[in-house]
Amino acid sequence: MTRLGFPKQKRVAGGSIGPSAIFAILLAWLIAPAAGAEGDLTAVQRGQRVFESAGGCTCHTNYPEEGTDAPWLAGGRGLSTPFGVYYSSNITPDPTTGLGGFSQDDFLRAMQEGLSPEGHNYFPIFPYTAFTKMSDSDLEDLYAFLKTVPAIERSNQAPDAPPPFSWRWTITAWKWLNFKPGRQVPDPTQSAAWNRGAYLVNGPGHCGECHTPRTLSGGLDRGLWLAGSAEGPEGELAPNITPDDETGIGDWSTADLVWYLETGFKPDGDDTQGLMAELIEHGFSDLSRSDRGAIAQYLKSVPAIQNQVQGGSGQ
Ligand code: HEC
Repeated sequence: MTRLGFPKQKRVAGGSIGPSAIFAILLAWLIAPAAGAEGDLTAVQRGQRVFESAGGCTCHTNYPEEGTDAPWLAGGRGLSTPFGVYYSSNITPDPTTGLGGFSQDDFLRAMQEGLSPEGHNYFPIFPYTAFTKMSDSDLEDLYAFLKTVPAIERSNQAPDAPPPFSWRWTITAWKWLNFKPGRQVPDPTQSAAWNRGAYLVNGPGHCGECHTPRTLSGGLDRGLWLAGSAEGPEGELAPNITPDDETGIGDWSTADLVWYLETGFKPDGDDTQGLMAELIEHGFSDLSRSDRGAIAQYLKSVPAIQNQVQGGSGQ
């Protein structure tokens, strides 16, 4: 009586362990650890996780020019784009130069709609096209976390970009062409892990902002989603991360990807450079193993696109 049901499952796994069974076991193991602890976290602790899933918001610290002593999250980092250089803003809780004056609603509106508390448009270098997919609750937690970081006074800088790219009102047209506000909608035909991965990749992880090439108007070219960009931020090449065997990462296993997001080491032993290395160091490596597993599972499932990204060095 007690033997019925339970051992049957075991027989399936033990009798013929095929690749799919091993995968299922691996996946269950990847997903398991985080499950119990989640409910006990405070808003600030949950917010820290959200922060990590966004790569530690590393663009908001000016590491390239000020090194490891750069004022944390106080902005001022120049991000060069084909349209000019845009400087990240101060996201510490400083009341005048940072986010101190933002209400929680202001913060959500900035992230999900790309609008400042005064109602002006943010330049799309701030990837609200991805952050709009984030849930209200994650953003509320992130807001709580950002309130706890040290406040630093540092004024925001106007872009070094020629008109019209320095005019905020032109962004109204840009948004009309390139921006669709709205939360990530779960796909009920897919597993919870896949949906978690889709959320992390397309929302907080904002992988597509760098790994997808842009159209002439500077919008993301959705036909080449994640298929690599020769002109990533800071002029770096961001490789094709679709599962194409030849030009993407089709030959990476799920475990390779999980390992990469934890350590920055590629399957061939090469390490990671530039912004991706920062995102891993300050964010993705601190995520739970289940979250890294979810990202990997989802990435393995996106359409493979053959796209050889030209330019840059190592690729
Ligand atoms: C701010 C820009 C940026 C974001 C956001 C970003 N990446 Fe990257 N990524 C890069 C760059 C640049 C490289 C190239 C690093 C190098 O040359 O070592 C890279 C490299 C990679 C590689 C190695 C591919 C290869 O063929 O070597 C993988 C895998 C990857 N990123 C996955 C992701 C995932 C998954 C996310 C989201 C969770 C993400 N990236 C978000 C910029 C970004």
